Amino acid sequence: MADKSSNAMWGGRFAAGPDAIMEAINASIDFDKRLYAQDIAGSRAHAAMLAATGIISDNDAEAIREGLLTVLSEIEQGDFPFSKALEDIHMNVEARLKEIIGEPAGRLHTARSRNDQVATDFRLWVRDQIDAAVAGLEALIRALLEQAEAGADWVMPGFTHLQTAQPVTWGHHMMAYVEMFGRDMGRFRDARARMNESPLGSAALAGTSFPIDRLMTAQALGFDRPTANSLDAVSDRDFALEFLAAASICAMHLSRFAEELVIWSSAQFRFVTLSDRFSTGSSIMPQKKNPDAAELIRAKIGRIFGANVALMTVMKGLPLAYSKDMQEDKEQVFDAADNLMLALAAMEGMVRDMSANRPALETAAASGFSTATDLADWLVRELNLPFRDAHHVTGSLVALAEKKGCDLPDLSLAEMQGVHDAITEGVFDVLGVDNSVRSRTSYGGTAPDQVRVQVDRWKERLG
Ligand code: ARG
Repeated sequence: MADKSSNAMWGGRFAAGPDAIMEAINASIDFDKRLYAQDIAGSRAHAAMLAATGIISDNDAEAIREGLLTVLSEIEQGDFPFSKALEDIHMNVEARLKEIIGEPAGRLHTARSRNDQVATDFRLWVRDQIDAAVAGLEALIRALLEQAEAGADWVMPGFTHLQTAQPVTWGHHMMAYVEMFGRDMGRFRDARARMNESPLGSAALAGTSFPIDRLMTAQALGFDRPTANSLDAVSDRDFALEFLAAASICAMHLSRFAEELVIWSSAQFRFVTLSDRFSTGSSIMPQKKNPDAAELIRAKIGRIFGANVALMTVMKGLPLAYSKDMQEDKEQVFDAADNLMLALAAMEGMVRDMSANRPALETAAASGFSTATDLADWLVRELNLPFRDAHHVTGSLVALAEKKGCDLPDLSLAEMQGVHDAITEGVFDVLGVDNSVRSRTSYGGTAPDQVRVQVDRWKERLG
């Protein structure tokens, strides 16, 4: 007979309980208790199936069902006695079920192992997070669409190398992020479609000799189908990795945008004013309004990338099937998911609240010879110069303006003709930033009408 202190679930062959250090390294209950709702849902589906297939009696299934509901409400009310000695959420729930309903509780684990149980619970949890990420992205996209619609024709400098390149519209810049976050949404949805298979019934690794109905449990848990290989099903954490990969790319986009908001809200740029609700002050410098939310979003991506690398590293050396290493999947994914949701919500709030400083955007758009390309294009179109020659002539005009300390539209016609004598008055039409952005009417270009086309397409898509 096993020592009293050995594990009640698997202590049959053990003479003594674990060392305290063993318990500390082995127990996952402190974090995997977050899976309680999924664990209980999985157990309810399993028990109902065991009864439907005649593996356990209807009476036992009913007792299990009611007992599990009691456990669920105990946990939800915060009066559940979580125990480290019971290792994880699966054994905590089952042990409490036994206390509540007695003997029938012992029949719940028929034709099941913690290996398929945890794989099922975790898939259900990750699936919910994917849905939450898609919802968070959708809310953020809607906020960006509002900004884009309001500022479809506000001009601002477009940059390459963070140097003024060509004027663009505020709406166009907002819509660039809509495209990125839209692809992120697609990645989460693709991952969801691939991961939505039920591992339940794979048992420890080889399947089971009991006449279970895996279609029934798959359906009850909202999966599209059961997994097709029991070894794979208990060993696979691709679904979590795909979530982390999609989260990492999304976080990278959030971070780029956060970086722009940090730059734009600085006194040097003054492109945007962030709301008080999403800024902080300084304890010493009274004038300061800091873009902390943007900075923290930018920083938090490190944790999400880290989780991705950590779990890849956990998985890469594991032989089939289950190894306890895989217990390390949860904290990484929990942390990444928490921080992703927080970052998405903070970004949405900032975007909703921020106001673009239109005059500052306009002034910046007109400086830095931002319409030099328009000038070169005009020389090609009107004077039939080869583009390379037009580029050269424009370069000389920029050098002249630079020497005079003025912008391109401030040069006189005579000065321009000094560089190329065929230039006419008409050139001034293309040197203004408004005309510049309005002329970029190619599909996907920055012209206000093109921006509006894209805003409408997205609104229709989101419904
Ligand atoms: N707590 C474990 C985990 O998260 C559950 C699976 C345990 N399975 C086992 N064979 N020890 O991975």
